[in-house]
Amino acid sequence: MSTPRKVHIKSYGCQMNVYDAQRMVDTLAPEGFVETQNPDDADLVILNTCHIREKASEKVYSELGRLRVVKDEAARNGRAMNIAVAGCVAQAEGEEIIRRAPTVDIVVGPQSYHHLPQLLARARSDGRAIETEFPIEDKFASLPQPKATAIRARGISSFVTVQEGCDKFCTFCVVPYTRGMEVSRPVARIIDDITRLADNGVREITLIGQNVNAYHGEGPDGATWSLGQLLHRVATIPGVARLRYSTSHPRDVDDALIEAHRDIPAVMPFVHLPVQSGSDRILAAMNRKHTAADYRRVIDRFRHAREDIAFSSDFIVGFPTESEEDFAATLALVAQIGYAGAYSFKYSPRPGTPAADMRETVTTTTMDHRLARLQDLIDSQQAAFNAAAIGKTVDVLFERPARNPGQIVGRTAYLQPAHVMASPDIVGQVLPVSIQSLERYSLIGALAVPAQPPQTHTSNSLASTGA
Ligand code: SAH
Ligand code: SF4
Ligand code: F3S
Repeated sequence: MSTPRKVHIKSYGCQMNVYDAQRMVDTLAPEGFVETQNPDDADLVILNTCHIREKASEKVYSELGRLRVVKDEAARNGRAMNIAVAGCVAQAEGEEIIRRAPTVDIVVGPQSYHHLPQLLARARSDGRAIETEFPIEDKFASLPQPKATAIRARGISSFVTVQEGCDKFCTFCVVPYTRGMEVSRPVARIIDDITRLADNGVREITLIGQNVNAYHGEGPDGATWSLGQLLHRVATIPGVARLRYSTSHPRDVDDALIEAHRDIPAVMPFVHLPVQSGSDRILAAMNRKHTAADYRRVIDRFRHAREDIAFSSDFIVGFPTESEEDFAATLALVAQIGYAGAYSFKYSPRPGTPAADMRETVTTTTMDHRLARLQDLIDSQQAAFNAAAIGKTVDVLFERPARNPGQIVGRTAYLQPAHVMASPDIVGQVLPVSIQSLERYSLIGALAVPAQPPQTHTSNSLASTGA
């Protein structure tokens, strides 16, 4: 047997990229590739890139500078190494990447990576290969399934892409250009993928998409299914204890999704619902197509369905024309909602987006100042949310042994890390934990009941989050 070739993938950006990186490994496995964590001994290095902000996309070029040295060194030792740039920078910049960094052999967009084996062959024969079209065919339909051993090695929590692309065209955002139009995968394919994951020990599924709650996939009955319907179906797959979805747009929250939170115990009461700004004037300039009041109403509907629900969000500060008054409206919205956590970013003009042409920009100093004030508020809300768990008994899905010997780490319904002293047998189980203290962002506690012997799932009994 020939020695396996090694592939190293470095991913930037969102969950979609994390998922895509795994699927690239699956695509290359039949070609004899195994994954390595070390770029120095790899035969193929893939940078799976993100274009969302300037900083993210510039990182790629500094990384390529480092890789050029590694590649040249390998060549001196008579070993060929290929470098591929995948992901959203590949889609946005195409050939330009090879002009700027001639060490790159392959440029492949997010809709074409199922062609990696052919692109690799073409790079070998022609010196380079570029593919950034949006093919008509369904990439997911032609991706090989992961091996059972690969699934087990990836742990008990898994992302599954159910929807890709975005038709919303927020004026600041590159995603509609890099990922293309909104497309939903058929229900039957998603169910097959998740069943395979659950059969190999995965207990938590996060359905992902740039606009996941715009999901409108073909159901087995021929009708179009919504995300709410899909969640109902996925919850019946034996072994699936927890269900999440990300990222949602406030405009696409329908009653079926709200009801899924009310009716399905496996659907976790934690929703990432980006709002970007609290100012209606800025929201309009961003083309978000909702007001701050619309957003508050959506939050109220969720809270009405499930009172223990918590939220996280994304914010942009310093969008062009943002005044002190606009920013104050953002702070007021945050104060009113009360988040379990949130991400906030300084506005970064992106080539080709409408907002990049807006003249009245906010200075970097003002942006820095606003970002710091917003992050202080969010941090204090997050600290209060975490502290509120002390003294309570909460369900934790255990993921893996922690760095501290004897400790096992898992996550609460709200994705807070929780540590207990216990046997590694509890990995994969949902168990009640009495929370005693908080160390930075981690909850520390003790199992509230003696651990069960490890289970092989035959029923969906762990889907209950009763404690
Ligand atoms: N689909 C999601 C998120 C997409 S990108 C949504 O609709 O909200 C993730 C986050 O990056 C966005 O929510 C936004 O807060 C941020 N972002 C996107 N473009 C940006 C830009 N040009 N500058 C700064 N932040 C940006
Ligand atoms: Fe970007 Fe807006 Fe689409 Fe989200 S909804 S991916 S922010 S264009
Ligand atoms: Fe970045 Fe592309 Fe995701 S731009 S955030 S990797 S969709």
